[in-house]
Amino acid sequence: MKSSSVYDCTIVNLDKHHSNRLGNITVVENGKTVPFDVKRCYYLYDVPGGESRGAHAHKELSQLIVAVSGSFTVTLDDGNVKRSFILNRPYQALYVVPGIWRDLDDFSSGSVCLVLASEVYQKEDYIRDYQEYLKFKKGE
Ligand code: TYD
Repeated sequence: MKSSSVYDCTIVNLDKHHSNRLGNITVVENGKTVPFDVKRCYYLYDVPGGESRGAHAHKELSQLIVAVSGSFTVTLDDGNVKRSFILNRPYQALYVVPGIWRDLDDFSSGSVCLVLASEVYQKEDYIRDYQEYLKFKKGE
């Protein structure tokens, strides 16, 4: 199988409903708006300014990452190419395919990073060492 690349990762526009009431609603529904069925969601918040998160890859997990509030930068790396995405719209998600290293930084104060994931939490699915990640990509 072809090794995954940062070019397989894209911005997905989510539904945005604006009714005659004030405010908007964004809906994510399995089988409709997302490229995989969501088994787990979690969110990252209270990240102090200047801190970074992520610094890992997943072997099997697909994810959608959304800045539901505020903004932050996600840098994806496939071992060859790096691509950075500034996420700052609650109706846009970054689709991250399996086998991609990611770093999250530049969190604005009060930002919330929602992650929709294709699998339940599995510690064994993580690669947290960058050299090990490069070996994993070579062996894929
Ligand atoms: P971690 O994945 O290390 O955060 P980061 O995005 O910075 O890499 O997760 C931090 C802690 O939360 C870690 O102890 C594992 C725990 N955790 C769960 O128990 N379940 C989950 O679904 C997630 C994402 C994390």
